[in-house]
Amino acid sequence: MVHSRITGTGSYLPGRVLTNYELEQMVDTTDEWIRDRTGIRERRIAEREQAASDIGLIASKEALKAAGLKPRDIDLIIVATVTPDMPLPSTACFLQDKLGAKNAAAFDINAACSGFIYALSVADAYIRAKVYSRILIVGSEVLSRITDWKDRTTCVLLGDGAGAAVLEADRSKRGVISVKIHADGSKWDLLYVPAGGSRQPASEETVGTRLHYLKMRGNETFKVAVRTLEKLVVDMLEENGITPDDLSLLVPHQANHRIISATAKRLGIGMERVMLNLDRYGNTSAASIPIALDEAVRTGRIKEGDYILLEAFGGGLTWASALIRW
Ligand code: UT7
Repeated sequence: MVHSRITGTGSYLPGRVLTNYELEQMVDTTDEWIRDRTGIRERRIAEREQAASDIGLIASKEALKAAGLKPRDIDLIIVATVTPDMPLPSTACFLQDKLGAKNAAAFDINAACSGFIYALSVADAYIRAKVYSRILIVGSEVLSRITDWKDRTTCVLLGDGAGAAVLEADRSKRGVISVKIHADGSKWDLLYVPAGGSRQPASEETVGTRLHYLKMRGNETFKVAVRTLEKLVVDMLEENGITPDDLSLLVPHQANHRIISATAKRLGIGMERVMLNLDRYGNTSAASIPIALDEAVRTGRIKEGDYILLEAFGGGLTWASALIRW
């Protein structure tokens, strides 16, 4: 049976580093609080002229190079982002043009931090249905543009970055085994950006009252995330007859080291089998999984034949997981 296989990955992190010590000068916080509660030490901030498609472009070129493909080989580009270049057109269309991927259809997905796995799910389904055979999926976020730098409850968490993966049709035993995506829209108000859409269009008042920035009820989100992710990962392994011992690497969305270690503990897997980089990059929403995946590939932490589990939880609410045989 045809299914999808990741044949190349890439990532890009902007050069500017923002440390916890610098944040101590900006809001009422401490390096100790941020490290203890989140695991984050620093994050990256994009240059003023860099939008989501610009940083996504660099990650995409790397992924294409790793896959040994040219932009014209790509049939479809899916960009997962909550910080598109503009409301219209899609960031995927900007990326298609910048790459010169003339044969590719292009659209965006907004599933917040679960966006990359949502994109993977759509791409895998297109490939299984034999509609497309080479798809570029990208998670790209410039969260610094929707961060309220006066709100200590959110500004210490977020960072900018992009990651990409090329998926190709494959008939071998390797590739995507299963992808599951979920949502609960009734809890939208745990994590959202109030204004700038059709409900509250941009006005002097919305700008003045800081409604274009991300709002999060962190502690409630935390509790739902831990509960939901524990069940998600256990179900995914059980449904596919894989034991936690079979798993070579867990690649989680990088939101909080306490959420990640709770999930790993529930699975009974040691932290040496968990990909962690949130200490350096913070929470980059849809970009965090492809960035972590690319780092794992490039540092030799993933080898052919390994079982890899991706999992994410985010605004929407949305959550998702993917089991892959590398
Ligand atoms: O990306 C996908 C979705 N997002 C997540 O999964 C994030 C989930 N949430 C979290 O990671 C955590 O809830 C946070 C890291 C955001 C917060 O950690 P917490 O342990 O849930 O803390 P809290 O919100 O319950 O706040 C504890 C205290 C509060 O003070 P009081 O009321 O106890 O006096 C906060 O005001 O910590 C205070 N606080 C801070 N103190 C210093 C909140 N932010 C800060 C800060 N520095 N930056």
